[in-house]
Amino acid sequence: MTAKNYKAWDVRESDYPADGPMEERLKFLLRYAILAPSGPNTQPWKYAINDGSVSVFADLSRALPFVDPSNRTLYMSVGCAIANLAVAGAHFGFAPRVSYFPDGEESDLVAEVQLLPDARPADLQVDLFPQMQRRHTTKDRYENAAIEPFILKEIEREINLPGLSLSFHDDKDSRAKMADLVSRAHQTQLAKKEFRHNLGEWLRNNWTTEPDGMPLYTFGVPDAVSLGFPAAFKEFDLSRPVIYRDSGLIHGCSTLAVLSTDQDDKLTWTMCGFALENLLLRATSYDVRASFFSQPIGLADLREELKVQVNRGHPQLIFSLGMAKPMRPSPRRPLEDVIIRPS
Ligand SMILES: Cc1cc2nc3c(=O)[nH]c(=O)nc-3n(C[C@H](O)[C@H](O)[C@H](O)COP(=O)(O)O)c2cc1C
Repeated sequence: MTAKNYKAWDVRESDYPADGPMEERLKFLLRYAILAPSGPNTQPWKYAINDGSVSVFADLSRALPFVDPSNRTLYMSVGCAIANLAVAGAHFGFAPRVSYFPDGEESDLVAEVQLLPDARPADLQVDLFPQMQRRHTTKDRYENAAIEPFILKEIEREINLPGLSLSFHDDKDSRAKMADLVSRAHQTQLAKKEFRHNLGEWLRNNWTTEPDGMPLYTFGVPDAVSLGFPAAFKEFDLSRPVIYRDSGLIHGCSTLAVLSTDQDDKLTWTMCGFALENLLLRATSYDVRASFFSQPIGLADLREELKVQVNRGHPQLIFSLGMAKPMRPSPRRPLEDVIIRPS
């Protein structure tokens, strides 16, 4: 039997209430939105169902003041959830139309997603819908196989919004530079108690019954070790094993990429997350999975160094791609916890 905190993953397409009231149909679409990835699995989103649209809010009570002080990762995560909502909507015959920050960037309302009955000709693109339940982040290791060039092209095509760009950094020298940036970021951040506590709050042992946070099996940490790990992580500087793990994921991946943007604000971060999730779903359809390295982007000096190296505006995410088998997902909050009443 699926434990309560993993039940969200059991959503079945055949349960879609095709003839039910609009509210029930939109609610069903949200069961896919909540499967989106989010920085340390905080799931920082809330939704209100309106007549023919869904309001997507940032849940700032889930912000990480020391790990993500500008909420950059938080807004990217909300963008990922909006992407899932749009993919699910399109699959069930709607034409999703996203209006970002309709009340301005100071409002918690990140987007209004209108779900209109589809008037477009059938989309020729392969439907990404089945990938939402197959996608997961790879935090342990990849299989030793290269990604075929045509797959990389397909993946790259998902970064198709204005002001966003993707660059690949696969040569040995670039990988070494990226690994060095990630390593220096961990050294600086994990030396700080506030940072360790802030991130450590979201680490979970392998038997977690919590609906959020990162179970340590996703990092390949054995069950017995996982029990004391969150407390140890908060107390001690464990940068060495963390650097060792990330270095393996950078040098052992098939492809290393950086997502960059022309602007650097809430709207851009959200749209960046939207495109990122589409990219991840496309990658998943080929059993290609990703690891993320946000750390150097959270430190102004290292982000500057990365900017010089990438030479494409503002770097938003370093990530690696590689072939990886499906693994046990991470928990999700139940839908009831993230739906609020429309105001
Ligand atoms: C914008 C964004 C940034 C992330 N940054 C990191 C990161 O720096 N390090 C990491 O290990 N995981 C990172 N993640 C992955 C999350 O930890 C992961 O999505 C979450 O734990 C849920 O797991 P899942 O993706 O397997 O469903 C990031 C995810 C998002 C959406």
